[in-house]
Amino acid sequence: MKNTFTMTDNRTDTSYEFDILDGTRGPSVVDISSFYSQTGMFTYDQGYTSTASTKSAITFIDGDKGELRHRGIDIEDLVENHSYIEVCYLLLKKRLPTPEEAKGFDLELRHRSFIHERMKGLFDSFPISGHPMAIMNSAVAALTVFYGDHISIENEEEALEMAARIIAKMPTIAAFSYRHSMGIPFIYPDVNRSFTENFLYMMRAYPGGVMKIGNDGENTISPVEVKALDAIFSLHADHEQNASTTTVRNVASTNAHPYVAISSGISALWGSAHGGANEQVIKQLEMIGSVDNVDKYIAKAKDRSDPFRLMGFGHRVYKNFDPRAKILRGLQDQLKDELKLDSELMKIASKIEDIALNDEYFVSRKLYPNIDFYSGVILTALKIPTSMFTPMFVIGRTVGWIAQWLEYKEDAKAKIARPRQLYTGE
Ligand code: SDX
Repeated sequence: MKNTFTMTDNRTDTSYEFDILDGTRGPSVVDISSFYSQTGMFTYDQGYTSTASTKSAITFIDGDKGELRHRGIDIEDLVENHSYIEVCYLLLKKRLPTPEEAKGFDLELRHRSFIHERMKGLFDSFPISGHPMAIMNSAVAALTVFYGDHISIENEEEALEMAARIIAKMPTIAAFSYRHSMGIPFIYPDVNRSFTENFLYMMRAYPGGVMKIGNDGENTISPVEVKALDAIFSLHADHEQNASTTTVRNVASTNAHPYVAISSGISALWGSAHGGANEQVIKQLEMIGSVDNVDKYIAKAKDRSDPFRLMGFGHRVYKNFDPRAKILRGLQDQLKDELKLDSELMKIASKIEDIALNDEYFVSRKLYPNIDFYSGVILTALKIPTSMFTPMFVIGRTVGWIAQWLEYKEDAKAKIARPRQLYTGE
């Protein structure tokens, strides 16, 4: 049997044959790269609902089963048994690190977590009302001023150094953006702290103040907080060809600097239909205000004439529970006492979930809670302000973006992204 797919143009009764390419898991694809040259027509798929834009070996998602794997390892296993740094290593180097390799990588990230002193002026140039995502976006693009515009990915060491640099600097850029918006002095990274603890330190410490690990009050960081945030970063690490990763790959295809590709990914992620949803979920839960109001908003979400959407619900790929949402919901239950999670917000969220999971409108459209529905309650308990929710998504996802950028560059057949259109003009 030929591994091909035949299509017939019934207007001319002409058949066209295309190769079927099989992956190692998931749906096969029909290679339609010769479609235009064979038929004189383009295929049409607004929003790419049935289109594979690339090959990739980084992340596999099964939307029907609600499965997510990085380099073949289940997300549940990674969050349970590995740190975010180890997940970064896995995405970049295609395997989990040995303990020594993990230690070396952790140390490298600590030493690369500083940003050029001249960048501080960039933060100061923003009004304090500036959204941290706007500041982060600009700061990441500004990094290209300090790091050469030619990245030869043939030199693996240089390419991985470029990747480690942006992963390491993102928490510092995020923390500086936050402290600028609060009008408080920057706290520099502390090389004696791990990646995730260091971020909380840069967000919370008083200038010159001692910030220690412990549970004795305000000026401390608890190990439970570090573990919860580390899990959140791992859950956001990568997610196949989502809108922001597709943006990063498209920018990679023009040979622009990798850091402006990452900056473009930050722009795409900011949208409320994508990573910006986590900030909107909490705002929505606060707006709903009490479990008594939930029915009214569920009705609005179902009303097609009403633009209101339930933030944190639905997903292009998952037509089952987002496995990351399940893990976060478990984390919420596990941490609600230790982190004193906001029980009112949790009650509203679980009421929404109970109704939506049984209501025909959501069930028929396979709308389930996604990662953004649960992350906000935990981030709030970690004293992360709502304006910093999407920046947290950026910190976690930077490794996915740069791993996908590297994979794109390693693909000798990669071409500049240049889709066509159905012209409807004059
Ligand atoms: C992320 O791609 C990724 O992997 C993204 C992400 C990642 O890790 O990178 O997983 C992170 O972005 C998660 C999604 C966060 N966004 C939100 O929570 C915003 C709310 N959700 C929606 O805007 C929507 O569900 C999307 C954008 C997530 C998915 O949109 P699709 O796949 O284009 O689906 P659609 O808009 O065609 O909706 C199908 C139907 C429509 O109704 P009908 O026209 O069939 O009557 O479902 C309805 C929609 O109106 N619908 C919703 C809804 N989401 C879809 N109705 C009410 N509330 C919602 N949230």
